Amino acid sequence: MKIIEVKDYSEMSQKAAEYIIDKVCQNPNLKLGLATGGTPVGTYKNLIEDHEKNGTSYQNVTTFNLDEYIGLSGENKNSYRYFMDEKLFNHIDINKNNTNIPRGDSKDTEEECLRYESLLANYGGIDLQILGIGSNGHIGFNEPGTTFTSQTHVIKLASSTINANARFFNRIEEVPTKAITMGISTIMKSKEILLLVSGENKKDAMGKLLNGNVTESFPASVLKNHPCVTIIADKAAVSGLKSHCQ
Ligand code: F6R
Repeated sequence: MKIIEVKDYSEMSQKAAEYIIDKVCQNPNLKLGLATGGTPVGTYKNLIEDHEKNGTSYQNVTTFNLDEYIGLSGENKNSYRYFMDEKLFNHIDINKNNTNIPRGDSKDTEEECLRYESLLANYGGIDLQILGIGSNGHIGFNEPGTTFTSQTHVIKLASSTINANARFFNRIEEVPTKAITMGISTIMKSKEILLLVSGENKKDAMGKLLNGNVTESFPASVLKNHPCVTIIADKAAVSGLKSHCQ
């Protein structure tokens, strides 16, 4: 794992956007894995700014999001489909037909997991996957204890995840308790992974990632087994930890 330490959230967002833009320029047909949550919002803003100023085109890019809440349709403001449209897709020249997110409102969620996994396989997998990390070490919505062999599946969200994500909802009771998420093996099949980490509330997780063992009880630790992971982390999340891992 290569770690790039940056000053703050703004610099993380800038560097992450530059990283993605560079990949899109090298490969206009990039298959790009995307995350939601607070961490990538600044990165998406920078992608939009660059698209407006420099005309970087996403016409031939295909995207795959990590996860979606079960029970929410794309019109629901708290769905990850809505989030992605608002925060990125509506502001760049991507073809919406090329943007893939598990359907949280599908009648048969198990069937939807199979569809999503085979869709990814048919496209030949993801070139670059963007990840955030939960304070409990989840990646996607793969909560602690998820097997490293898991494919796209239904997951019951940990109470710490529900608490953390309640900030996006009016009331905690509105946070869905289940989601569809790419599995750990699905994520690990990506050719390259870019993990973004910001803020002091992620420092414990970063300590475990950098200095702990590879274990299913801390899902992000699996990234140590991947040949091509770059972490862009700000000082608040990583200072004082970095030297232990290099
Ligand atoms: C989002 C996702 C999650 C988040 C993680 C961190 O699609 O899969 O793993 O990346 O929960 O969330 P934030 O960025 O809100 O701290």
